[in-house]
Amino acid sequence: MVRLFAGLVGAFFVMMLVLALGDGIYTAATTKSEETAEHAFHKKPKEVKFAHDGMFGKYDRAQLQRGFKVYKEVCAACHSMNLVAFRNFAEIGYNEDEVKAIAKGWSTETPSIDPDTGEAATRPSIPADKIPLVYPNEVAARAANNGALPPDLSLITKARHDGPAYVYSLLTGYQKQPAELKSKFPDVAAGSGSDPRDPKKHLGRCIIIPILPI
Ligand code: HEC
Repeated sequence: MVRLFAGLVGAFFVMMLVLALGDGIYTAATTKSEETAEHAFHKKPKEVKFAHDGMFGKYDRAQLQRGFKVYKEVCAACHSMNLVAFRNFAEIGYNEDEVKAIAKGWSTETPSIDPDTGEAATRPSIPADKIPLVYPNEVAARAANNGALPPDLSLITKARHDGPAYVYSLLTGYQKQPAELKSKFPDVAAGSGSDPRDPKKHLGRCIIIPILPI
């Protein structure tokens, strides 16, 4: 009797499983997934070779310093790198005096407090400081950038798939917005989306000026 009962319970579970599977297959077969702009216009990052690729690769110091110069002179106007301290630049070959000078001359100052009034103030940075935020908060950042938020670039190559190639492709991949984007996805197109790799973003404010050959 117990056996029969156990057998019935088992059969019931098997039947439920079969039903669930059938329902899953039916749903998958009948619902059409909606096409997204990202899906339709996404491009893979370009194939790029870096000096640090592979097991025996090593960083090319001159290349890193040129990249840093571009960041300092162009990107730092909008993008912070708040997880990096000025003294970390010693690792790409700057000596102590150079690091001090870089910190002191940085375009955005480090927040501090006025010792006389107790009010918020700023002061020139020292090597131990982190690279300051460009905007005091997200609202201010968006207000200055047409609603878009310039992300902090400290970890950007880790945060994006195929990071270094992605950033390289972004910087070198601007193109005229495809007419099809406008007809198919007017909302995305209105955001200005000139970056072919990610039409979801409206990178119109990301002014990238290639000032040096990298
Ligand atoms: C005038 C301000 C401005 C400057 C200068 C600027 N950017 Fe941007 N950047 C933005 C904004 C705003 C966004 C966010 C765009 C969005 O989300 O639609 C952005 C986004 C990005 C992104 C992220 C894209 C993603 O996948 O989310 C990267 C990477 C980037 N910028 C790199 C750079 C680099 C490198 C430079 C310098 C060569 C630079 N930007 C200069 C404003 C700027």
